[in-house]
Amino acid sequence: MDELRHAHMFRARGREILAALPQAADEGAAFQAHAFAPGERGLDDLVVEAESDDSLLAFLHLSEKAAAQRFAMYREVLGFDEATQGVFTQILRDEAFHMNYTYAQLRRVSPKKHGLALWWARLGRLWKGYLRLASAIANVMSTVILTAQYFLVLPLFALFAKAAARRLPRGWTPARSASPLGSQY
Ligand SMILES: [Fe+2]
Repeated sequence: MDELRHAHMFRARGREILAALPQAADEGAAFQAHAFAPGERGLDDLVVEAESDDSLLAFLHLSEKAAAQRFAMYREVLGFDEATQGVFTQILRDEAFHMNYTYAQLRRVSPKKHGLALWWARLGRLWKGYLRLASAIANVMSTVILTAQYFLVLPLFALFAKAAARRLPRGWTPARSASPLGSQY
């Protein structure tokens, strides 16, 4: 419920910022915030049923902690925009509570192995970080390779096609004789 409330707060503040922009009415419809990180969210998919209580709580604790750290940083740099800074101040309070709550629950559910669960969750985050980096590098590589193919390999084939066309007889040529109806060829 808290996260849903945060989403409403972000959306409301975003609308205010958008409305305050010049020509917001024309350009607002075309503004796509996800263009900053297209397709990246798929890695954050969480299959709750596939997680055990302690792994889920460890994951949530680390996610809340990361969110709290990030929001604290956003609040710090938003000195020039008090309204948005206020949104982050409010949300940060909730995130700090979520962070402590999930940690307390993790310790309750898994009093002896909560450290291990946290390390596993950290490794999972590291793995996802690696995947993000690898897909970003793959994206750059495919752009370079496909561009090189387009400009270097494709012209070669165009030259071959031209040479082959030159070898063909010019003008009208008599059609080959019809195949006999009694043959399968
Ligand atoms: Fe949260």
